[in-house]
Amino acid sequence: MASYLAERFPGLTLPHVRLGNGPTPVHRLEGVGVPELDEVDLWIKDESGYGGGGWGGNKVRKLEWLIPEAQRRGVRTLLTVGGIGTHWGLACALYGREHGLSTVLGLVDQPVDDHVRGQLARLAASGAELHRFRTARRLRLAAPWLVVRGTSHGRLPWYLPAGGSNPHGTLGYVETALEVAAQVAAGELPEPATVVVPVGSGGTAAGLVLGLRLAGLRTRVLGAVVNDAFRLDAPVLARLARRTADLLRDHGAQDVPTIGSGDLVARSDWLGTTYGDPTPASTRMVAAAAGAGLELEPVYTGKALAAVADLAGELPGPVLWLNTHGPR
Ligand SMILES: Cc1ncc(COP(=O)(O)O)c(C=O)c1O
Repeated sequence: MASYLAERFPGLTLPHVRLGNGPTPVHRLEGVGVPELDEVDLWIKDESGYGGGGWGGNKVRKLEWLIPEAQRRGVRTLLTVGGIGTHWGLACALYGREHGLSTVLGLVDQPVDDHVRGQLARLAASGAELHRFRTARRLRLAAPWLVVRGTSHGRLPWYLPAGGSNPHGTLGYVETALEVAAQVAAGELPEPATVVVPVGSGGTAAGLVLGLRLAGLRTRVLGAVVNDAFRLDAPVLARLARRTADLLRDHGAQDVPTIGSGDLVARSDWLGTTYGDPTPASTRMVAAAAGAGLELEPVYTGKALAAVADLAGELPGPVLWLNTHGPR
């Protein structure tokens, strides 16, 4: 099946490879066992099952545009960075390998819990070349050396920022927003007034903002910022959406809207002490969701669901919450 973006813009020259089976399911989310959530007209779009093998969730959406672009550029190696529990790095390694690309990962220490330990084991088995650093500063200092490590047969690696949130990766959630719009048109869910997602590197939220506007929906995006390692406020996310819009225009799309920082809300209220550190609220969401058969984690999805619970009664509904976590 062609991408929604290719259907919308028949002359689009951006390569796309399908890595998962969409559309991902949408349904009302009830009975999670968190009383505040019962006050919300709450819907879930469950991205956890998106992806072929190894690892699912929101990273796969981004790789659908990043991998064919890497192939078009003729690169052999992806070079990227993240915390030692990085879901992004793991997805990059697994899906890249399936498409003949190797991955070099620069990993920065973060608080270690069982989830992170499990991720480290998966990363070690992924075939990626791993390099660990105690701080982001040390990683930055080692950047030239990492580029050398990623150079193969005289070809430089393609550097992808943390979370895959460059304009090509962000297209993954422009596409997902068009998928949501198709589901609304098919009557599978009402037009959401608000979409809630975690913001770790920004591509998910920025892509949704642009895609929802492209689709003509009035839905507003609320990003629960869970990363304090760099600036991820509304102006930064809107800028990423604008760069993604420019990419689309440069490749044959017309009438692409321009996004401003007033088009979304980004709040850090549910971050807790720092990136990677669970909060009591996120831990509570993970435990409650597990009872309802949903596997979340406390660093992204638990914090975004805690935002919904916290703002129950205030958030314009219907509210669509994306489960972006994809363990296998
Ligand atoms: C499970 C999960 N949800 C959400 C996010 C955030 O997405 P983004 O990096 O596009 O902001 C990430 C990664 O950063 C993630 O691993």
